[in-house]
Amino acid sequence: MTPGADFDVEAIRADFPALNQAVGDKSLVYLDNAATSQKPRAVLQVLDAYYERDNANVHRGIHELSRRATEAYEDARRKVAAFIGADPSEVIWTRGTTEAINLVAWAWGMENLDEGDEILLTEMEHHSNLVPWQLLARRTGAVLRYLELDDQGRLMLDGLDDLLTDRTRLVAVSHVSNALGTINPVQEIVAAAKAAGAIVLVDGAQGAVHLPVDVGELGADFYCFSGHKMCGPTGIGVLWGRAELLEAMEPFQGGGEMIEFVHRDHSTWARVPHKFEAGTPNIAGAVGLGAAVDYLRELSMPAVARHERELMAYAMDRVRDIDGIRIFGPESLEDRSAVISFTLGDAHPHDISTILDAEGVAVRAGHHCAQLVMKRYDVAATARASFYLYNTPDDVDRLVDGLQVVQSIFG
Ligand SMILES: Cc1ncc(COP(=O)(O)O)c(C=O)c1O
Repeated sequence: MTPGADFDVEAIRADFPALNQAVGDKSLVYLDNAATSQKPRAVLQVLDAYYERDNANVHRGIHELSRRATEAYEDARRKVAAFIGADPSEVIWTRGTTEAINLVAWAWGMENLDEGDEILLTEMEHHSNLVPWQLLARRTGAVLRYLELDDQGRLMLDGLDDLLTDRTRLVAVSHVSNALGTINPVQEIVAAAKAAGAIVLVDGAQGAVHLPVDVGELGADFYCFSGHKMCGPTGIGVLWGRAELLEAMEPFQGGGEMIEFVHRDHSTWARVPHKFEAGTPNIAGAVGLGAAVDYLRELSMPAVARHERELMAYAMDRVRDIDGIRIFGPESLEDRSAVISFTLGDAHPHDISTILDAEGVAVRAGHHCAQLVMKRYDVAATARASFYLYNTPDDVDRLVDGLQVVQSIFG
């Protein structure tokens, strides 16, 4: 990809070696991006270079390699911070979104929730943004409340003011639903939560991937995302938090790196963000995510979002026309990210996915770690095609051709 060039999807595809392969006798069409994205060569090369030249532990040795590793690790933090409009000291490396949410549930929740306090969740959350709060509620006696979904997979915000009470301490909501594709009006939710005196955690696992994000503009208190869904390696993710909250929180895990002084009976903590990064971190992962962010910034996130919106317009038009298809999530493209979750006649989503796989088209089938969504729409599972910056109208056509094969088998 040439810097500054127009969004040239064929040039972009050439950056992703994994896209250029056959599955059986068909060329691969990768539409499982909401689960994880493929990686551009720029990221793979940075990972190789890191291990071939700079590999050492960070913040420890006073030698050349350790200096280089530390610089690369902290440089990646600065890049990720700039990507979301944050200060690097508020960016904590985690294993991913799941660990980031667990960190807040433990380190903030255990100190700030009492019996009868309320946590407001939504029916559309990924299990990662439900189960940590359930565990916390069980330990503290806090109560979980839920904002519900309308028939089009949108949050019923009319009910928000009634659900926010003087006991609501935290609202945890996804930026974008992985199961429905719904883009939530986070700013509106934050404003209502703040008015009620609650803090807000945004699960950005499907947000920062597809949309430009500025945490200052969103106004939330915590924002989390995973590197592997946005061109980066697995095992690395980010928790952004407001400095004053992070300063006031107890550590999540104890160990090396997160301490200032250790005595026999107590210890004092390193400054934020290191207070939350116990043990040897995923240094290569952080460096790889820094390279992924460089790649995305070079393409420009508004351009990525525009490409995906155009692709979704085409995809929705084509998929909607298929006989027997039921599409979940918002009709309006304004409210929908790059996900089409669907069922097709009586075909089980696993059968749909198996038949598509034989056609070279990779989609996901199941509950997508969103069992409350499945329950809401009274289905056990859906098939999900999820798109990313390197997908094309040809990929959509291959999906539709594959669905026609499903129809011919199931009638
Ligand atoms: C909306 C949402 N939240 C959280 C997660 C969990 O992310 P991870 O497994 O990378 O921690 C995912 C992953 O699919 C997701 O889509």
